[in-house]
Amino acid sequence: MYVIEPVTTAAFTLRQADDDAKIECGFEPDLVAVAPEGDGLWGAMRLTEADGVVSVRFWVAPEQRGRKLGAAMLKAAAPPLFASGVRRIETRPPVREPAAIRAAMRAGFRPDSGVIRGGAYDGGDALGLGLLAGDGRGPAPRVLPDLAGGELTDGTVSLRPLRPDDFEAHLRHRTSPDVYSGAALPLPPSVGEVVEMCEWRAAVDWLLGRAALMVIDDGAGYRGTIGLYDVARLIGTAMIGYDLSADARGKGYATGAVRLICRWAFEEVGLDRVWAGTDVHNAASQAVLRRTGFRLEGVERGGLPSVDGTRRDTLVWATLSRT
Ligand SMILES: CC(C)(COP(=O)(O)OP(=O)(O)OC[C@H]1O[C@@H](n2cnc3c(N)ncnc32)[C@H](O)[C@@H]1OP(=O)(O)O)[C@@H](O)C(=O)NCCC(=O)NCCS
Repeated sequence: MYVIEPVTTAAFTLRQADDDAKIECGFEPDLVAVAPEGDGLWGAMRLTEADGVVSVRFWVAPEQRGRKLGAAMLKAAAPPLFASGVRRIETRPPVREPAAIRAAMRAGFRPDSGVIRGGAYDGGDALGLGLLAGDGRGPAPRVLPDLAGGELTDGTVSLRPLRPDDFEAHLRHRTSPDVYSGAALPLPPSVGEVVEMCEWRAAVDWLLGRAALMVIDDGAGYRGTIGLYDVARLIGTAMIGYDLSADARGKGYATGAVRLICRWAFEEVGLDRVWAGTDVHNAASQAVLRRTGFRLEGVERGGLPSVDGTRRDTLVWATLSRT
């Protein structure tokens, strides 16, 4: 058991758990967060120490969720742990638990290198996050912010993050030949890949600052996707890719979506250059880019693979924040 002195915040007191505490949190707690009056159990934490690194599991009572208590508990526990000589505090929430990942990031835990296969307490894949004493008290820096109000919209189309309940529409879309034939690798994904993308990968990639995959919605539901990929914050660049279902084409939706995502990339993400690659024969996509201010920069020889093992030439287009 890891022992710290009680920490009292404006919301709760974090103190040692009683030895005989019976809490349905899925682990033996070392610390509990109790209500200010001291009679309500709001949360629990387990701390496992090895070689100056403390590994944390945390839990908030179901009726207390939605108040960011998980992040507050992690933040309250960190100073006494660092003061006692701990070098690093880490946590490995399952990739399928966005609330836990976001709570850790709000408390300042920064993602390490990415997904740890089989690394979660439940045996599934985990995201590794760590906090060092020098990281400060604020939330972990994010390359890709959340969309203000949850969406980008121009009044005709709106863009919002892909969600678990998009699974059926996303599977139908991605396995439709007239959609996947235009993809970078012109093959349909497996059902498992679509499940994974909807359930956690799109959200985790966004939090890691790698890619922002959004659904294009015209008010009547899922019509296609647009994404910011290959995000390179250091040099201020990213690539876009987009697709619409056949019945949503020819209505200006792609043009609206490209304008919205580029404005977000420049104004909210802080990028300076957004580029796109099109097949040399894809006139519709080229027209969208021309209409939205992209300029043709050249031909990338053998830029994309074909299913027969040969390579296809692509046209490279780009738009800059200051043009
Ligand atoms: C993880 C846990 C402690 C978080 O509880 P909490 O502090 O009440 O969390 P909140 O409801 O305030 O949500 C935390 C964040 O996740 C977001 N979130 C919550 N549910 C979400 C969902 N289903 N999808 C996406 N985001 C979600 C919230 O919007 C919030 O985001 P923000 O801080 O960036 O604004 C709680 O869900 C829990 O006990 N889960 C079971 C145990 C567990 O998974 N522990 C972690 C193991 S290490």
